[in-house]
Amino acid sequence: MKLPSLFTVLAAALLLTACRSGKDSAPALIPQPVDMKVAPGHFSLIPEARISWSGGAGAAIMAEELAAMLRPVTGYELTTAEGIDGNIRLIIEAGTEWKKEEYHLKVQRKSVTLTAGTSEGLFRGIQTARQLLPPQVFGGETAAGLKWTMPCITVTDYPRFEWRGMHLDVSRHFFDVEFVKRYIDILAMHKLNVFHWHLVDDQGWRIEIKKYPKLTEVGAWRVDREDKPWDSREPQKPGEEATYGGFYTQEEIREIVAYAAERYITVVPEIEMPAHVGSALAAYPEYSCTGGSFTVPPGGVWPITDIYCAGKDETFAFIKDVLTEVMELFPSEYIHVGGDEADKTEWKKCPDCQARIREEGLAGEAELQSYFIKRIEKFLGSKGRKLIGWDEILQGGLAPEATVMSWQGFEGGEAAARSGHEAVMAPVSHCYFNVYQGDPATEPESFRGLLTLKKVYSFEPVPPELSAEEADFIIGAQGCLWTEYITDGATAEYMILPRLTALSEVVWTPAESRNWEGFNRRLPKMMERFDAAGLNYSRGSYNVDMSASWDEASGNIILEMTSEQPSPDIRYTTDGTDPGTGSPVYTGPLKMSGKVTVRAAIFDNGEMMGGISTKSININKATAMKVQYNTPFSDRYKGFGDRTLVNGISGSGDFNDGQWQGFEGTDMDVVIDLGRETPVSSISSGYMAVVGSWIFLPQSVEYSWSSDGTNYSAAQVIVTEIGPADQGNRAETYFASFPEASARYVRVVARGQITCPTWHAGAGNKAWLFCDEIVVE
Ligand code: ACM
Ligand code: ZN
Repeated sequence: MKLPSLFTVLAAALLLTACRSGKDSAPALIPQPVDMKVAPGHFSLIPEARISWSGGAGAAIMAEELAAMLRPVTGYELTTAEGIDGNIRLIIEAGTEWKKEEYHLKVQRKSVTLTAGTSEGLFRGIQTARQLLPPQVFGGETAAGLKWTMPCITVTDYPRFEWRGMHLDVSRHFFDVEFVKRYIDILAMHKLNVFHWHLVDDQGWRIEIKKYPKLTEVGAWRVDREDKPWDSREPQKPGEEATYGGFYTQEEIREIVAYAAERYITVVPEIEMPAHVGSALAAYPEYSCTGGSFTVPPGGVWPITDIYCAGKDETFAFIKDVLTEVMELFPSEYIHVGGDEADKTEWKKCPDCQARIREEGLAGEAELQSYFIKRIEKFLGSKGRKLIGWDEILQGGLAPEATVMSWQGFEGGEAAARSGHEAVMAPVSHCYFNVYQGDPATEPESFRGLLTLKKVYSFEPVPPELSAEEADFIIGAQGCLWTEYITDGATAEYMILPRLTALSEVVWTPAESRNWEGFNRRLPKMMERFDAAGLNYSRGSYNVDMSASWDEASGNIILEMTSEQPSPDIRYTTDGTDPGTGSPVYTGPLKMSGKVTVRAAIFDNGEMMGGISTKSININKATAMKVQYNTPFSDRYKGFGDRTLVNGISGSGDFNDGQWQGFEGTDMDVVIDLGRETPVSSISSGYMAVVGSWIFLPQSVEYSWSSDGTNYSAAQVIVTEIGPADQGNRAETYFASFPEASARYVRVVARGQITCPTWHAGAGNKAWLFCDEIVVE
């Protein structure tokens, strides 16, 4: 082996130094590029700078767009001209060696050169260049006096996946054209390229169809029950006017499609079938099995039984007409037809559907759905389009060319890939941004469930079980935003940011380059860009998670604080005040006794990074005492068993946190044995309502006490004044105080809802009662 020359060694050492200094000042690019090298020095944009372009009209358009983006924030004139010698140079270089969307960016002291094989590549590169400038470049106003510099850098970059998507449900709540454009801008700055537009669902039909005007005249409007919790909204009554909703005219749709195309984002429309079409059937009940009548539901519906009739040919003619207009509006190769959560109850009862099953030799209703989707696929295929649907389209056999969007888990996408079908991964577990992204106590009301930033970042769209050949069928992934609980644009932004930021790196950056710590170092800069752009976002990832456990031996509570942040500076207080930079630093589990409210937050450079997390500990006369259950708790929500209700720790805003105990279809009737005769003057207990999850407050709570466990005092009764339809999501404490009594046994009876009310999605089924914590003083 040849020894390295002194020169090689020196050169390597120099390179190392350069890299290291580069790393320290590494620009915070998200998504992280495939390859980048940072050099000393920087480029300064001057007022007289010229942006040159070469390689065709696409480059000229990009140069003009770049100038148009920079002019208002810099206040500079910034001319554009054909050529290759501007201060900033955009070059389209024909050639076959380019990967799709690839670009090369070279920032030197005197020039910035962006080269790509297509204008799409240039557009992606401009997003990177933008992040190299100060965050104010994302703002709308002139940042006078600012130095517009970019670090010297060489970037080679291209995406990992061809489908990098984000979905928006505009049915559950309607979002106007202006917001949809803003949403598309968010996708563009993250280098996403698919906007999945969920235009149809039970609660609203949002796209104008000329041949069927009632779809929007009727289907786009519902009665306004926005003051009631989503899952407890009474259907429209006869004579009531439907006033809440909206839709996009075809002209507006064209405007949005064009707006997205300018950002190299394909809009994939979703036209749901055969179910999730209550809005369509309210307008055209003749395409149902029963003929109706239907009204547009103003809130949650479950199960999804309103369904198109698969037995009538008229239904298919109607859908084909609708899709024909849809295809005129959307050039997208893929047309999404939904296909999810179709309850087949009506199909089982319908003579037309049953006749279809017989005539087509189908095995049952699952195959009838498959027949339905295959028939639509054939139609789309005849127009040169591809069908994509949620993973339920696998049931009863997948249509020959269909692409599967895997939402229930990874399995649907995996099965599709194994059978040679394309799949887009959007599993609930990692891609549904409609659930909480931090402690529910510090986040806006959402769907129950938790999806943290770190979990999104950990998402790997390609299941490891797939062979390399099968893995090629996983064409990408996307995030989804369902809007049952999202009524305005600012909240929609909050729910997707920064989870979309994490996802952008999942779908763009090579898997081996992904790194949670690195992402976290870059995230604050991204947040500065959001601030400049006036975007709303969550800091839930900077929350402290507190878990408390009862220590039998010491009679104390052990409190542990964790965070998904790599090395958080956690500070806390125990006196009820807000933690600050001077508060004690958390270094390890704390032993707590008595009554304490612990408040904790994460700090960085003297700044509180997220919200304040709170945990109340209340060691009282009932704590750790024996509980006798006259009614049993459910095995599904048992907390940690017999001492859950009296462990001195109150449950959080999340009924799944292990502190809450659930009782199904029954009252709660428990007796706490205080161990010996004890003076008692107050009793309290806490309950939760999550009406969408069939959990209701008790109808009343009764407290009584006894010395012998047989003869009890008269009960102190607290009646719930708030009706089940108005309970929504909330936690309530039922407190009673009285002249001091002497007691060994304390009995708590909470009268449950027992069954879900008639208007509820679970009408007649067992209702839940959730309790924590019982406190005796
Ligand atoms: C879905 O969430 N029903 C696709
Ligand atoms: Zn039918």
